[in-house]
Formats: sequence, C-alpha cells, structure tokens
Amino acid sequence: MAVTPLQDPALVVLVGAAGSGKSTWAADHYRAVEVVSSDTLRGVVGSGPADLDASVDAFDLLDRIVAARLRRRLTVVVDTLGLDPARRSGWLGQARQHGIPAVAVLLDTPDAVCRQRNSRRDRPVPAPVLLTQLRRMRSVAAELAAEGWDDVITVRNNEVADVRTAETPVSLPSGRSEESRPRVVLQLSSVPWGGEPTAWLRSIALAADEVGFHGIALMDHLIQIPQVGRAWDPIPEPFVTLGLLAGLDTRLALGTLVSPVTFRRPGLLAKAVATLDVLSGGRAFCGVGAGWWEREHAAYGLAFPTPGERLDLLEEGIETMRALWSTGTRSYAGQRVSLPETTSYPRPLHDVPIIVGGSGQRSLSIAGRLGDGCNVAADDRLPSRIDVVRTAARDAGRDPAEVEITVLDVAIVGRDRDDTAARVERTRGRTAAATWATRHHAGEPATHAERYRRLGMLGVGTVFLALPDLSGPEDPEDLERVAPLLAALRT
Ligand code: UTP
Ligand code: MG
Repeated sequence: MAVTPLQDPALVVLVGAAGSGKSTWAADHYRAVEVVSSDTLRGVVGSGPADLDASVDAFDLLDRIVAARLRRRLTVVVDTLGLDPARRSGWLGQARQHGIPAVAVLLDTPDAVCRQRNSRRDRPVPAPVLLTQLRRMRSVAAELAAEGWDDVITVRNNEVADVRTAETPVSLPSGRSEESRPRVVLQLSSVPWGGEPTAWLRSIALAADEVGFHGIALMDHLIQIPQVGRAWDPIPEPFVTLGLLAGLDTRLALGTLVSPVTFRRPGLLAKAVATLDVLSGGRAFCGVGAGWWEREHAAYGLAFPTPGERLDLLEEGIETMRALWSTGTRSYAGQRVSLPETTSYPRPLHDVPIIVGGSGQRSLSIAGRLGDGCNVAADDRLPSRIDVVRTAARDAGRDPAEVEITVLDVAIVGRDRDDTAARVERTRGRTAAATWATRHHAGEPATHAERYRRLGMLGVGTVFLALPDLSGPEDPEDLERVAPLLAALRT
C-alpha cells in the first residue's frame, strides 16, 4: 500500500470514466473499509456489480455510509463515476458541515486506454455509454475547479500528477524559509518493560541508536502522570536509568525532559548530570522545568511552592548548575546565587545543553535569557512562543540562534495505513478514533517526516518523539517502524 500524500481525515471523491483506474488507485492508497463503491454495493443489494437495476438501492446505502463516516470524522473514499455534479455537491456539503477537508481525485486516463481496458472486461460498459462518460470527462476538470474542493488531485498512470489546493500556504517567519530538518530524540514516557527491565531498556536503546534516533530522553516524575498511564505503572528514577543507558555502546544523547527544580537541590542535579556526561563520554543534556504536578510532591514529602517561587527556583537552579560546571573552584557570586566554592568533580566533558521546559511567558523568557534550548508545545501558538524566546534572548544581548527550539510530539506512527488504524484503535480508550488520530497526528512515516520538515522551517531544531504505543519486551523490533521517518529527514 502506497503512502498517501493526502489530507486525512478527508472526504475523497473519485472522478473518472469506466476503466480509468479509480478502484485501483483507491485500493493502493486506502484501507478497504474506507472505500465505498457503488459497484460493490450493487453486488451487495443486487445480482452483481453491473446490476444497474440495483443502482437506486446501492446509492441509497452509499450515501448513508458516507454520512455515517463523515459524522465520525473518518476518511471515506467515494468510488463511483463521480460525474454527477448534484451528487458531488451533496457529499461536499456534508464534508463542510463536519469541517472535514474535501478532496476530488480526477483520473486523467487517455480515452483509448479506458476503451481497451473496458473491452477486456467480462461485462464491458456498452460503447455509447463509455463515449458519453469520456465526453463528460472533458468538462469535469473545470467544474471541479469551480466547486470549492480543498484539493483537486489529478492522477495519471496511477500516480499523483498534480495537486491544486485551495489552502493558503503557511507563511514562514522571515529569514527562516530555508530547509532545516529537526533531529529526533526518542522520549520514553512509559517503560512497558514487563518482568525484564534491564533487558528491555537495553534493547530499546540499541534499537533507537540503530534506527537513527539522535538520543533518548526520560521523563522525570515520581508517579506516572495521568496523560501517559496509570499511577501504578513503573516510572523509574531517571538518572539511575540513564546511567544504565550510558554504559551501552551507542551514540545516543541522554537526558531528562524535564527535571522539575522542585525535586532536587540544583547542586545535586548538577552532580547527577555531570556524572552522566562523564559516564556517557559527553552525551548528556539537561532538561529543567518549574514542575507542575502537586500530587507527586505531596506524596514524596516535597515542598510545592507557588508558580512564581518555582520559576525563581528555576532561574537559581540554572545559575547554580552553570557555576558548578564551569572550570575552577573559586567562590561564585552571581545575580541570584552565591556559593563559597565551586569545587565539583567530575566536571562534565562538554558544555551540557540546558533545555528549559514550559510554555508560559516567564518560562519562555527564562529559556531565552538563560537556556541553550527551550522545549515548548507544538500547537498553533508555536510561532508566537518562538518569538517570545527570541525576543528575550535578544533583550539579554544574546544571539537568538543560541537557543534551540525543541518540541515534544506524542505521535502514533504506523508502518502503513492498516497498521496506523490498528494502533489508533488499540490506544484510543473511549476517545473517538478520529479525535485520537488527530490529537496524535496518526499516520505513516512519510506524513510525520513532512510535518517535522514544516516544524524545522518554523525553527524547531529537535523533536522529542514519544510513542504512546511503544511495545513491551516481547516486540524488540517495534522501533523499526520509525526508521523510514528518520531516514526521510536525513536525505
Ligand atoms: P479500475 O477497475 O481501477 O478502473 O481499472 P475503474 O475506474 O474503477 O473502473 P470502473 O468505473 O469501476 O469500471 C480498470 C482496469 O485497469 C487496470 C486494472 O487492473 C483494471 O483491470 N489498471 C488500472 C491498470 O492496468 N493500470 C492502472 O494504472 C490502473
Ligand atoms: Mg471501479
């Protein structure tokens, strides 16, 4: 099954004469259950696909299936001749009503090819009927252009030859139109390690390295967060775990995304990260944030001060870590922090990047002033958040390019369309499949690569990819499905 370069979910209406290749194209790009065909339904309610007496019943069913799928925001591909403007406008209207993109696919196949294919069929369409269809095809492109489809796609020889889109192109921030491809770090937000924690961690890390991830990031939480799993799911102490990963023979960058400054005094965090950097041969990074989940603090007897105080701690923490990582042992008197000495060995092997997590105004400003990176949510407000970070960096007299923009992306990546749908169905819980699929950008590797390229053009340097359906130890090959995504970003 080929990769679908199309909007999804979408209403897809095929338009083409008999034998033009509509059903073939649909089968190559969509799952069988997504395609609703008048011929097939004639076979269901009548004597066979060519039973024209069953057309009224077949179209009645077809319309009901289209309506039911669009109502659930599920992709539906309408495989009929598509030459009747009234029917087309009915389907288009329903897609509009549900806010689903509407795509027309025009099969541009030479008349002679349609005739030849038709003549080879068991029950060819009568020649005058085919002639009428071929004549209609001459004017249909102009009709489609005027009907208001989001995309009109022309298919020749079973390949997409042209896409006319009504969408206005996304405007890019100035000076950032060049192609830049983000690095991808595997974010391990859950550890379904079964009874074999060490073996599972080892196989995940080796596989991540093998398929081309830039690194592995661990969450730093004391109780599994509700966004990811159940409170009794294992959530290991990240620096102990990263120590194990550091000892494996990989090139992976290693760190947390992100460590709340409320958990450990900053000196202890600096010590852990410096040790990780040394043990990994200079591959550590350090994610820090203000912390947000009161429950885990209460459960572990940790103070959880006000948001303003936590952000103060964040600033102090970054300053303390940098003081303890710099050379020398002299006393340190900075803006917010004073230390009688900075004797801290081992020192990190390299300048460990500090990535500040958080999308609030003050977090973004702290990242711009003090961070090497800034991890933000990749929603509609991404460009304005990037602006805040860069402005804060400039105001602090820094080159804004010194602060790398990173995003956390929780995504469902399937090997192919069937696998993607199965993964959505497996993980969606009680959320409607279409909602879940949209929330996690469910799709095949090429779709995600395209999305990451767009993020790269907006200025994102690293994507932390969390896979909500990472497998347990019984499926060590699970990460291979992501390999084509990573390969596409390298070429
Ligand atoms: P389809 O059965 O896909 O055409 O192809 P269609 O448009 O859906 O036709 P109707 O309207 O239902 O009658 C017709 C024949 O052409 C071959 C297919 O294998 C099938 O036998 N075909 C199609 C090709 O050989 N190459 C193509 O690129 C497409
Ligand atoms: Mg067909």
